[in-house]
Amino acid sequence: MHKVVSHWHFRMLESSVTHYYRAIAKASLTLSCMHRLNLGSKSLKSPVPARFFAHKSRIYSTKSSMVQVSDVPHSSAAWEWFRSIGSPAWWVAPMVDQSELAFRELCRKHGSTAAYTPMLHARLFRDGHIYRKEMFTTCPGDRPLLAQFCANDPDILLAAARYVEDQVDGVDINLGCPQRIAKKGKYGAYLMDDIDLVERMVRKLADNLTVPVTVKIRRFPNIDDTVDYAKRLEAAGASLLAIHGRTREQKRAKEVLADWEVIKAVKAALTIPVLANGNIRDLADAYECMKYTGADGVLSAESLLEDPALYSQRRLQPGGAVTFLDGPRMAIEYVDQCRQHTTPWRMVKGHLFKLLGPWLSEYTDLRDELNIGKDVDLDRAVEMCNEIMARAEESGRDYPIPQISARKLAKMEEEAAKKAAIEEQEREADALKEIEHQGAEQRKGKEQNTMAMAK
Ligand SMILES: Cc1cc2nc3c(=O)[nH]c(=O)nc-3n(C[C@H](O)[C@H](O)[C@H](O)COP(=O)(O)O)c2cc1C
Repeated sequence: MHKVVSHWHFRMLESSVTHYYRAIAKASLTLSCMHRLNLGSKSLKSPVPARFFAHKSRIYSTKSSMVQVSDVPHSSAAWEWFRSIGSPAWWVAPMVDQSELAFRELCRKHGSTAAYTPMLHARLFRDGHIYRKEMFTTCPGDRPLLAQFCANDPDILLAAARYVEDQVDGVDINLGCPQRIAKKGKYGAYLMDDIDLVERMVRKLADNLTVPVTVKIRRFPNIDDTVDYAKRLEAAGASLLAIHGRTREQKRAKEVLADWEVIKAVKAALTIPVLANGNIRDLADAYECMKYTGADGVLSAESLLEDPALYSQRRLQPGGAVTFLDGPRMAIEYVDQCRQHTTPWRMVKGHLFKLLGPWLSEYTDLRDELNIGKDVDLDRAVEMCNEIMARAEESGRDYPIPQISARKLAKMEEEAAKKAAIEEQEREADALKEIEHQGAEQRKGKEQNTMAMAK
């Protein structure tokens, strides 16, 4: 059977020597950790280079970057790519306004071995340079990195992805967003109703990009449907699949357990790397999930926001468990990252609430100050963190005593999440309106020029 080897296979093989040493170092590290935990080598294939270089000589011998090769199955290429980025197991999940560069850098410093960008809206990304500049920032250490897009048009998706393909290790399609905004825009998990379109998008990227295409899905209520869906995406050209073990309807992650059974079934059915998502609250969960499902790595979102060092091996060592005082300490480190990488305040504020949350339920004056936030900037944020630690020391406690009931706190969190979702929806609608307006102006200008020339 002939298989198309696209630009990215070629580029990957070209840079294999550089990547190889990096891959060996990272993979052996991961291997030693996994062996220690008796995970075996099932999910971590050793990066032996023989086959790698055999392919390379054959592919180098052609001038074309789109070559027909008879014996490079898609899955082998996908595995080679995965190994070339270090077979990363510990992923920062994609999070709108929260998996931005500053946070990714913080997580990488504390054990995360790969990351996704927040979801980028393909149409806005293709057409809006201000959106592009604000929403996609990276730096040389920010790898491996997948840029995640939402889209429902293969051409727009490809055009958007082209802007970032040389700065990332892969381009991911968000097929899991269950929010109202995704329903309205017909993207994310609502594309589960139009799998033909999803296949076309995957194929478009797989055939044209210089980096692999990856997908992040949710489960269907039924295991067989989920496995069929995953297999179709693999066949369309996806090189890695991340599966969130909750359905589209199970929106509140904290209230519903993710189903690892379905993840296990998908992993068993696919031949490309598979990442598991859901119920990863700490590093022990991460190892357990990999062992149970056979997945090649895990994604964490909510829990990583609360403990950016969740993947650090020290968490499993005596005295290494996360403490309440880690919150303000991490917040100070996060602010330091924000000084190096300009970050919109709404993102900073979101992280400060996650990291300082438990203490802010006791020190409600600081909570109110951060909430209203008129004069709060990065310097004041650091002062607040130091103030929290000083007050804690004075009280002789290393844990907070909430002044707000758990019920009220949950309600406040829910309201804040709703408000953030509405604001996101408004930002997206405004940006789309602005693009439509610019397009109309350009068309009007062109028409006027044509008319002037005709005269
Ligand atoms: C604040 C936040 C933003 C998110 N944004 C995205 C996103 O942009 N793209 C995406 O695929 N999933 C997004 N998710 C979903 C997560 O990536 C993840 O699938 C989900 O939270 C389940 O993982 P968890 O149980 O570790 O939280 C987001 C989740 C959170 C909490």
